[in-house]
Amino acid sequence: MSYLSPALVRKGLELTLKSLKLDYIDLFLIHWPTGLKLSEGVLFPKDASGNLLYSDVDFCETWTVMESCKDAGLVRSIGVSNFNHKQLETLLRMPKLKYKPVCNQVECHPYLNQSKLLKYCKSNNIVLVGYSPLGSSPDPKWFNPNNPILLNDPELRKIGEKHNKTAAQVALRYQIQRDVVIIPKSFNPGRMKQNKEIFDFQLTDEEMKAIDGINKNCRYVIVKQLIDHPKYPFHEEY
Ligand code: A2P
Repeated sequence: MSYLSPALVRKGLELTLKSLKLDYIDLFLIHWPTGLKLSEGVLFPKDASGNLLYSDVDFCETWTVMESCKDAGLVRSIGVSNFNHKQLETLLRMPKLKYKPVCNQVECHPYLNQSKLLKYCKSNNIVLVGYSPLGSSPDPKWFNPNNPILLNDPELRKIGEKHNKTAAQVALRYQIQRDVVIIPKSFNPGRMKQNKEIFDFQLTDEEMKAIDGINKNCRYVIVKQLIDHPKYPFHEEY
């Protein structure tokens, strides 16, 4: 967020390549549409009251430099994350757009199934990548603790029992069948293995509909510190 200003985009990428000891990366994303000021290398700069220092950088200008990074061979593909459909539309309507974003990475799971954003992305050939597909966030500062726990959902559990699978496997399989790319995290080898074992069963149309029916538009990752930013993406319906 603090490297969105056009003067810093390539520099930030080069720092990343250096620390990864790579010549290029496969996918380079705008992590959030909300710019932050970069001050003395501090990634999340704050004022004296502890509030993040927002910047008003135009993400279309960020995008143009990202396109040039692709042309320079430093990245294979470019995309965005945490963009709402209006922000995607702004990018797609850029007069000098050279490359469309290949993906929009957003929170997506059965309690926030993003059906409208998914439809919009599909109609523009943008892959929706779902983060927190099991309904959680690793960072307690970002997590909304008042939300229900996805993996305790009775419908997911009931469907799982029919297929001899866990609620987590049903939640992941649901996304595969609606063309959402998922990036589940686990530090536990058993659960990593479980999360891969989702290609040997098929949810029926009725089961897919039943899972659609448990959507609650319930967002776990709200990032409260960004809520007053003019480009905060989640005030829009989708
Ligand atoms: P752990 O690392 O102990 O497995 P998300 O990708 O939605 O953010 O979810 C990540 C969280 O979900 C982590 O806390 C991870 O804990 C847990 N998790 C990952 N896979 C499973 C699973 N198959 N069943 C239950 N919890 C899981």
